[in-house]
Amino acid sequence: MKRIMFVCLGNICRSPMAELVAKDILAKQGRANDYLIESAATTDYESGNPVYPPVASLLTKKGIDCSGKRSRLLTAAHGDKFDLIVCMDDGNIRDAKNILGAANAHKCVKLLSFCGENGNVSDPWYTRDFDTCYRDILRGVTAMFAELDSRK
Ligand code: 4NP
Repeated sequence: MKRIMFVCLGNICRSPMAELVAKDILAKQGRANDYLIESAATTDYESGNPVYPPVASLLTKKGIDCSGKRSRLLTAAHGDKFDLIVCMDDGNIRDAKNILGAANAHKCVKLLSFCGENGNVSDPWYTRDFDTCYRDILRGVTAMFAELDSRK
């Protein structure tokens, strides 16, 4: 089993979207047990809060339930538990490396790197563009599984 931790700034928009989209893909493929998928934040700004309502309603329209998800902070212990820390933008990479420390900093990657791109998944908290965020996350997660499955 591969263990993937998605990370963003608040864990109420992008990383829960990535977590739940990834779990939905695996469930539809009948292989939920091939991966451990979780998500967390680099800050405690939203700790304990549910998925941001516009993200929740977008996911609900896609048939994905996010009612149980609550924001929580990335910790150094996650660096030992997970194989990859999949971040949404450059700031997340910097902050996640600081939290994880030198031993596990190499596990941090940006989601869109799986698409051969150096770009960030823009934060819809600021852009208000939830559809672009969803499209970037869907293609990033799809490419991530293609890459990781091929390494088996
Ligand atoms: P996320 O978006 O990192 O995609 O969850 C944000 C959510 C909350 C805040 C910033 C970004 N905030 O400043 O509270």
